[in-house]
Amino acid sequence: MHPETDPERLRERAVAALTTARARTAALTDAVSDHDLTAQHSPLMSPLVWDLAHIGNMEELWLLRHVAGHESMHPEIDPLYDAFEHPRAERPKLPLLGPREARRYAAEVRGRVFDLLERTPLEGTSLLDRGYVFGMIAQHEQQHDETMLITHQLRRGAPVLTAPDPQPPTAPPPPASEVLVAAGPFTMGTSAEPWSLDNERPAHVRDLPAFHIDTVPVTNGAYRAFMADGGYREPRWWAPEGWKQIRSHSIEAPLFWHREGGQWLRRRFGVIEPVPDGEPVLHVSWYEADAYARWAGRRLPTEAEWEKAARHDPATGRSRRYPWGDADPTPAHANLGQRHLRPAPAGGYPAGASPLGVRQLIGDVWEWTASDFLPYPGFRAFPYREYSEVFFGPEHKVLRGGSFAVDPVACRGTFRNWDLPVRRQIFSGFRTARDA
Ligand code: AVJ
Ligand code: FE
Repeated sequence: MHPETDPERLRERAVAALTTARARTAALTDAVSDHDLTAQHSPLMSPLVWDLAHIGNMEELWLLRHVAGHESMHPEIDPLYDAFEHPRAERPKLPLLGPREARRYAAEVRGRVFDLLERTPLEGTSLLDRGYVFGMIAQHEQQHDETMLITHQLRRGAPVLTAPDPQPPTAPPPPASEVLVAAGPFTMGTSAEPWSLDNERPAHVRDLPAFHIDTVPVTNGAYRAFMADGGYREPRWWAPEGWKQIRSHSIEAPLFWHREGGQWLRRRFGVIEPVPDGEPVLHVSWYEADAYARWAGRRLPTEAEWEKAARHDPATGRSRRYPWGDADPTPAHANLGQRHLRPAPAGGYPAGASPLGVRQLIGDVWEWTASDFLPYPGFRAFPYREYSEVFFGPEHKVLRGGSFAVDPVACRGTFRNWDLPVRRQIFSGFRTARDA
């Protein structure tokens, strides 16, 4: 079980998490020209060079200024990299650091952070306790690495990223398309996970009625049946706001799909390829997921149902860190960390299944849930309100489980992501559920 307490092991974990994140940041930013680093590839996204310097700036703010008590290294740039001062669409017009300066700045911050990490006790304050603030910064960088991968996906032009495809499943598919999760209480959220973020806390008991949930995410093939049945032309399947969005933008398929000669193709990191039927559907909005579920005579799982299916062990009554138990993810458990640039076929990763046999809850695609992003009872903003608290409310829907683009450090059974229900450029899919 992780809850690691040995200070040397915690320090090693922090160094490893920061180093892994920086390698990923470098891979994503070194893959393109300086022109592509400073260009805006979509009004929805920052230029990659903004993410790069913002990563360094957050690290400087929390580790060098808050923890070590240093002065700001470059006070004049701090406001440029405050995500709340400038919306993404405006960022290209700011006097941002160029690619060389941004790289040098991030590297300089990191050098000082490693010095700090060597001499700072990982206890004594809630920021330092068990290395929390170092883990938070590694997660922040990895979250931006996922954001940068989304920018890569939106970018037009020849492919620049490559990765091997996931292995085709070797184990038989799950025996049933859904499982019954019995009624009863379970522990949601965590008070023990040392690097859990504020919105995952505290652990609390939820009592749920019985429900059924899909053993695998909804596939492209299943989603195409919805399309072929006129799903995008039937207002009765759609929430009113979703219907408005698909009508006003003439949406008739997941983002990045187009039809050519009777065949559905998709663009994936610059490669045009046939849409693979067996893969979890990707790049759908909450509205599309919700409409599909209604068409299928089902519904999206609530966030609590998703977490119970992922963490509750009926044999012991305990909630585990992951569907497979308490051990950190390995490549056998889940498709995480941008090792592959696509979801694995549905039915994969039997070693990552939950006790009831639900697969691919972690990795592959973020899963939309029915739930609004709200605080748990007893929530306390930590260490800053702008991570979670300012986003709580009915305008954001919760996504769970992480995608192929998320690093294990920023993904666990309790991890909560959120976005607007219209969003489709994110690595989002879903599974369905129904009342028992
Ligand atoms: C948790 C993914 C919604 O990217 O807006 C990054 C993470 N917060 N920097 C986002 C985040 C501050 C956040 N999400
Ligand atoms: Fe950020």
